[in-house]
Amino acid sequence: MKEKPIVYVTRRIPEAGLRMVREVCDVRLWEGELPPPKEVILREVADCEGLLCLLSDPIDAEVIGAAPRLRVISQYAVGVDNIDLGAATARGIPVGHTPGVLTDATADLTFALLLAAARRISEGIEKVKAGRWRTWEPLGLLGADVWGATLGVVGLGRIGAAVARRGRGFQMHVLYHDSIRKPDLEAELGLEYAELDDLLAQADFVSLHTPLTPETHHLIGEEALRRMKPTAILVNTARGPVVDIEALVQALREGWIAAAALDVTDPEPLPPDHPLLELPNCVVVPHIGSATVTARERMAVMAAENLLAGCGGNGCRTASTRKSTIRNTQHGTRETEVQEPLQ
Ligand code: DGY
Repeated sequence: MKEKPIVYVTRRIPEAGLRMVREVCDVRLWEGELPPPKEVILREVADCEGLLCLLSDPIDAEVIGAAPRLRVISQYAVGVDNIDLGAATARGIPVGHTPGVLTDATADLTFALLLAAARRISEGIEKVKAGRWRTWEPLGLLGADVWGATLGVVGLGRIGAAVARRGRGFQMHVLYHDSIRKPDLEAELGLEYAELDDLLAQADFVSLHTPLTPETHHLIGEEALRRMKPTAILVNTARGPVVDIEALVQALREGWIAAAALDVTDPEPLPPDHPLLELPNCVVVPHIGSATVTARERMAVMAAENLLAGCGGNGCRTASTRKSTIRNTQHGTRETEVQEPLQ
């Protein structure tokens, strides 16, 4: 009988996906809640043909180099910035990911955060819990209108487009910036293309949906934050390092912008004594964009399919790269290899 391929799965994922992998492979599963230490990953991949990993596992050149039999890396996420794609490509190892199945869950969470920051929901909850709700206040907890405001979407991939759709549902004027113009979506959704600096200057809400690449690292830094309106709200459900968190703390303290709502931070997790968590005008949740039962199950099935396709030598949904121009307020415009926008 043919031996089953050995695969290393770095965390328990929904059973729907795990079951599929177990049927075909010899599965080694890391049962810990926290990511496996690097030395464990290095040891486990030594004889593996497949690796199913999470965004919190650094799959760098060292890990890839330590896995001579590796035939596929399957990421249980859409973003793949934790994986050295160059090192995998050099070895001919496909890197699978899970585009599409988490789009609406993430767009819903983006809008939940946007609304929470605009209408000061967490301040309201704290007030009630602390017994400070004493009467109906004509001037208490006044927030910003979402309906009819201008939304700036940075990165018009699948998730950015789904957020733009929700914005249109709120009768928002939606600007977008992306390295590639999307005339079809402009026409379908009534979106307006803007250069990043113009978007930052005009939007009441700026929502980030770019992948994390060297070019988008700190895309929103001091210069970008100072360009935004003092009444503007920044929402980040993409990747933490797209925002310079120190500059953001200063911006929120000094009123360069009104508020921020973050699903992702740099670092992750954010230490409980981080200055951002002391600010009333900042909402932070623990990277839960795709955290619905359905989305996570679909991600598990897709990650399993990608792993099995790779182990069987067939193609899987790979995270591609393309040449394009990205606008970075701090580093100017340049032609570069970037990943597809977060999908
Ligand atoms: C992703 O898929 O990249 C999200 O950040 C987590 O689901």
